[in-house]
Amino acid sequence: MSERLPHDLNCLTISELQKHAAVMMDKQTRDYYNEGSDSGSTLQENLDAYAKYRIRPRVLRDVSKIDTSVNIFGHKNSIPLGVAPTAMQRLAHSDGELATARACKKMGIAMGLSSFATTTLEEVAEANGDNPHVLQLYLFEERDHSIKLLKRAKEAGYKAVFLTVDTPILGRRNLEIRNQFKLPAHFKIPNFEGQGDNQPDAEAEQRGQGATRRGSEAGYTDSDGNRVVPKGPITFHSHAANPTLSWERDIEWLKKECGDEMQVWVKGIATAEDALLAVHHGVDGIVVSNHGGRQLNGALATLDALPEVVAAVQGKIPVHVDGGIRHGTDVFKALALGADFVWIGRPVLWGLAYKGQAGVELCLRLLSDEIRLAMGLAGVTKVEEITKEYLVKIDKSGFVARFLSPNQSHTKRTEADCSSAPFATRIDAHNPTSTMPAPARSRPLKKDFFSQTFKGQKPVVFSENARPSTIPPHIRHLAWSSTGAALATTSGSKVRIWNPDRPNVKSSQELLGHVGSVEKLVWNPTREGEIATTGNDGTVKLWDVRVGPGAHNKAVPVKEIALGDGGLFLAWSPTGQHLVAGRRDDVIVPIDVRMGAMGNTEDLTMQEGRKLGSAQTNQMAFSNSGREVFATTGEGTVKVLDWPSMTLLHTLNAHTSAAYSVQHSPNGDFVAVGGGDSLVTLWDTTDWVCKHTLSNMTGSIHCLSFSFDGTYICGAHGMDKDGDKGIHVACAQTGETVHTFDTTHIINVLAWHPLRYWLAYAGDTGGVKVIGLGSNL
Ligand SMILES: Cc1cc2nc3c(=O)[nH]c(=O)nc-3n(C[C@H](O)[C@H](O)[C@H](O)COP(=O)(O)O)c2cc1C
Repeated sequence: MSERLPHDLNCLTISELQKHAAVMMDKQTRDYYNEGSDSGSTLQENLDAYAKYRIRPRVLRDVSKIDTSVNIFGHKNSIPLGVAPTAMQRLAHSDGELATARACKKMGIAMGLSSFATTTLEEVAEANGDNPHVLQLYLFEERDHSIKLLKRAKEAGYKAVFLTVDTPILGRRNLEIRNQFKLPAHFKIPNFEGQGDNQPDAEAEQRGQGATRRGSEAGYTDSDGNRVVPKGPITFHSHAANPTLSWERDIEWLKKECGDEMQVWVKGIATAEDALLAVHHGVDGIVVSNHGGRQLNGALATLDALPEVVAAVQGKIPVHVDGGIRHGTDVFKALALGADFVWIGRPVLWGLAYKGQAGVELCLRLLSDEIRLAMGLAGVTKVEEITKEYLVKIDKSGFVARFLSPNQSHTKRTEADCSSAPFATRIDAHNPTSTMPAPARSRPLKKDFFSQTFKGQKPVVFSENARPSTIPPHIRHLAWSSTGAALATTSGSKVRIWNPDRPNVKSSQELLGHVGSVEKLVWNPTREGEIATTGNDGTVKLWDVRVGPGAHNKAVPVKEIALGDGGLFLAWSPTGQHLVAGRRDDVIVPIDVRMGAMGNTEDLTMQEGRKLGSAQTNQMAFSNSGREVFATTGEGTVKVLDWPSMTLLHTLNAHTSAAYSVQHSPNGDFVAVGGGDSLVTLWDTTDWVCKHTLSNMTGSIHCLSFSFDGTYICGAHGMDKDGDKGIHVACAQTGETVHTFDTTHIINVLAWHPLRYWLAYAGDTGGVKVIGLGSNL
């Protein structure tokens, strides 16, 4: 459709549109629309962030039919982009929001309407017709106004409210202050007309003081510490900011008010922590936004914040992003980093200023054409095909880092995976064949082919000694880093980081610092290169292997904390924020490890430890969402606890003797529990019934591992001498054994690679072995 219209030869790009708009607007409007807060650095970084990525185009893919459409709010949107809510559009053009709504309708593009629009929400809904429209909401301290607005929005058919959450206080926009910004008297904020505890001051209107009318006053806390709510007619400056909003009280309230008729989204999320809270509080979607750089200056660019939000949300609710999108390739990049949809703010205002409705249509058409072009030239024909495989990131020194392919939504990787892995993800631009993490396997291996596929696969051995002895080394634990770019093992008091591409001890790094034997090690799931260990010496140590080894490839911990008794196990929460450590005396110790805190000694705080009842606690693991932890007990049960409160949610009567190991499958289908009765039980996580019992092993099952896709599971025996040799691989969905890997000794620990069917195990002669390594399995 759009590509058949003739070009506007004066305006072929959004940047040309901005220039045309600039001359059409008066200074006050131009400054109000274009500026960011303070120095404007976040506004600029929103734009610049896109230049850090490059597209990896694929060719010979028949792109003759490209479908740029996506589904949003039950409607087909012609492109994965909508018009973000921006206040007071009649400043740009006398038709204001009506022109925007008509253009959106014509182009089949969703529209967001600001509460502080200069047109009523009903008029906009009518002009936008069947096309989806959402209402941006500033939730006021005086709820009556919000209740009225929500009722009207429901009646007018708004699909969702976007609660703006990045405005507890208004950002400081200096040009707005200097220009003494005022909404000219002939414009109104009609959604609130006649509301507020004062009617508009007619005299002030005459003087043109619409936005700063006498009688309008922002809320404040008085000298006695009491909150005084905003006063007077409702204006953006007095009422938009609400510092009292909180997750617990207000999201619940809003959800109730919106009922089933309107979804509740939060706009202005920029961290994994808040994304998890949004999921926890049951919102319908998230817009990663920093208000177009108009609120907290110095905040991260939205594109840079997006990956951690996507990783935290794990596909449970949609994640949208706005800020700095000016090209079709920007849209492509945001989607490749995991956004489901994007929104644009200023470009639409520029279109409006340039030519009213026709200008907005032009803006949307330019971006539509560019999105189609980007998709075709990158070799994709459908929006859902746009993944991280199509992106690389370029750092300041020109290094190109390739992303892992997000073949499963629940394991979408954070940006940190790409940029800061210790040895594998930095790819020298001049030597692209140098080390990098194995790309993710895209299709599951069918169980009927499992045995046949692994036949003839010889394990690669990682040995500490040049001439491996016939006695198996005493490796207590092993774990892959979150991208699989490194493999860590513990033996005695040593921790060793292996480079999977170089199976020799010289290429490994030794972490020295523990005094007694190291019992457990865990990698930070969100920041590649950070590792935590615990052991008999009663400490938890944090290491950053990106810092690089010191002399003789030996590194020392960057931080440590005394547990008060020998450490038995550790688990790292999926957000990377918390560790939970288990002591020998069964006391559980939560440790707060804030993101990015490795270099800062202030940030490691141990909370008070506690016992989970009288039974022994053997191991703990987080659920994929991080909202629960599972604890195996000496009584054979698994306690499912809320995190971080650690209140008991369920108890699974999993085994007749002690339960040892526990893991949530990566696809979320099962919780697997290994016991002293030689059984592995697989529990359905929706109704908590035991779906399968794997009985193909002997001895206690101290260690469990699901393959990256949750399809296969196998177990190992810890230091138990009673188990059988060999590794039995079972299909998680059916419980049947699909293959047995032969081993010379009892295997005490094993772990599947996080992205491929590569299995690392220890207990056999020679050293740690990895089956499948380097293959395309
Ligand atoms: C002039 C202007 C007014 C805005 N008004 C609102 C608003 O009323 N409510 C809101 O949630 N966001 C508002 N925003 C933020 C936008 O919804 C959006 O987050 C931002 O413009 C996206 O960045 P971009 O302009 O770089 O595309 C406004 C942005 C601008 C530029």
